[in-house]
Amino acid sequence: MKENTRTTAGFMLGDNIQEKAKILIVDDEKDMLVLLDRMLSSRSGLSVLTSDDPVEAIRMIDEQNPDLIITDLKMPNLSGMDVLEHARKKSGSTAVIIMTAYGTIESAVEATRKGAFDYITKPFRKDRIYRIVDQALRWRRLEFENLYLRKKLNQWPSGPFMIGNSQPLRELMARIAQVAETSATILITGESGTGKELVARAIHACSDRRDREMITINCSAIPENLIESELFGHVRGSFTGAFKDKKGLAEEASGSTLFLDEIGDLDPSMQVKLLRLIQEGEYKAVGGNKTYRVDIRYIAATHQNLKEMISTGEFREDLFYRLNVINIFLCPLRERKEDIPLLVDHFLKKYSVLHGRGHIKKISREAMDQLMDWSWPGNVRELENVIERGVILASDEVVTLDDLSMGQDSGAFNDMTHSDIFDMPFKDAREVIIKRFQADYIARSLEKYQGNISRAAGEIGVKRQYLHRLMKEAGISGKEFKS
Ligand SMILES: Nc1ncnc2c1ncn2[C@@H]1O[C@H](COP(=O)(O)OP(=O)(O)OP(=O)(O)O)[C@@H](O)[C@H]1O
Ligand SMILES: [Mg+2]
Repeated sequence: MKENTRTTAGFMLGDNIQEKAKILIVDDEKDMLVLLDRMLSSRSGLSVLTSDDPVEAIRMIDEQNPDLIITDLKMPNLSGMDVLEHARKKSGSTAVIIMTAYGTIESAVEATRKGAFDYITKPFRKDRIYRIVDQALRWRRLEFENLYLRKKLNQWPSGPFMIGNSQPLRELMARIAQVAETSATILITGESGTGKELVARAIHACSDRRDREMITINCSAIPENLIESELFGHVRGSFTGAFKDKKGLAEEASGSTLFLDEIGDLDPSMQVKLLRLIQEGEYKAVGGNKTYRVDIRYIAATHQNLKEMISTGEFREDLFYRLNVINIFLCPLRERKEDIPLLVDHFLKKYSVLHGRGHIKKISREAMDQLMDWSWPGNVRELENVIERGVILASDEVVTLDDLSMGQDSGAFNDMTHSDIFDMPFKDAREVIIKRFQADYIARSLEKYQGNISRAAGEIGVKRQYLHRLMKEAGISGKEFKS
């Protein structure tokens, strides 16, 4: 489907030209057909088809693909329910309005449960039928646009995209292109939310290792006593809980890229072991004697200042130089504000499609001014959350300043309902559920341990730094749990 071409729905997408909407009226009472035909044909933008026989109507649905069907409920041969079922099967976005006399109102309500847009009781007033037709067509257009945009979203290549056109971003992209094809080790630095992981993905995706999956190890997420076995694997019985042999991530990353995220949180004893792996290209599993040789490309990232950590003895200088063969620094968003409008546009598109709100196209001038003024301590991630939230809360086609809730970086997922989630592609729905679960889980743990972060981290089996990070992502501060 090309952009701006006529769709089968009879509507144009991407511009304002609208074709006539096709309406099919089905009723065995001929007088009713004539009356409705006259009422609706007099309105511009509508083309009306009629049928007094539901069997014929079903054929017309197949051939003519109407945008809206108005059908009587009780007819000989087939009922309005059958017409509804056929229409829904054919296209989920065809609107169906059921006409009914007072005596059969219950079946009409039942029909709306089965997917009819609405019902109308006979006899009806002109203004009532106009209103309901307008509403149904508007719904139909939105459904169709969402369907179309979702399809487009699925066609987008799923690779990592860097949005932006500022000088620093252009330099960054040139650098990615330059270093991707070498096997050189790379250290990515920059504040939280600037896109370090995205850059790591982009480098891997442009490298000749792209056919293999990049393996990520988050050094702050895994407790100190488990990280070695996570990276190198272990043999059965080497420690309590090692019931069987386990492969390490290093083996999985052989032939591919290993992304060492939050490298600044790696404890000193693991720093030595990692250095050996990088220098010698070999390692032993925990509790094992066999030496494994691997061919790995390393990318590390951190938001911490490793040079400072070297001076305080927290980070090994020799490991730093091993990792820092090529350094990529990501500049904070406040220093490249000209990227904001492009990012806003990108996230508006992404989230209006994801949340089935394809009618949202813009952001108000006032809201954009505010976005340009803001200092973005949470960088692109914060901007992304603000826009996602705005898309969910907007009551109109335009996202306003009120919809943005600036400075409350608490992720947008809390505002979503159950059914929103089931309308999403699996991958995105899973991400939303995980975020929501994390926020709940963390809040409960902090509550249990009265906001004592070290204690909560210890009890739930993650590192304190990682818990901090999760709290930040979920917009939770420890203070609110202190007794
Ligand atoms: N230039 C960009 N274009 C599009 N999306 C971006 C860009 N930069 C960052 N993002 C998005 O912002 C979010 C945060 O990026 P990412 O996770 O890579 O940041 P990070 O630097 O690793 O943060 P942290 O230090 O907190 O781990 C992601 O959803 C990412 O896709
Ligand atoms: Mg990251």
